[in-house]
Amino acid sequence: SKFTAVDQETCIACGACGINAPDIFDYDDEGIAFSLLDSNSGTVIVPEHLEEDLIDAWQGCPTDSVKVSEAPFKNNLKCVK
Ligand code: F3S
Repeated sequence: SKFTAVDQETCIACGACGINAPDIFDYDDEGIAFSLLDSNSGTVIVPEHLEEDLIDAWQGCPTDSVKVSEAPFKNNLKCVK
């Protein structure tokens, strides 16, 4: 299974993630992305039917801010990819 969260420190509001994976990512008022699944905590399993979208978003982010892990995220998104 996969977990995901956006590193909002490095997100530049590119907007590609929400196009690739509209059921996973949305943006705040400033265009900074977050995961809709779990308020960007990276603790809820990405539904299997969305995994392909997730990989597209992960590959498509220009700043590698879409983080994907096989385990739930703790508090340090920067360590995980
Ligand atoms: Fe940000 Fe990357 Fe999405 S820069 S808006 S996380 S594609």
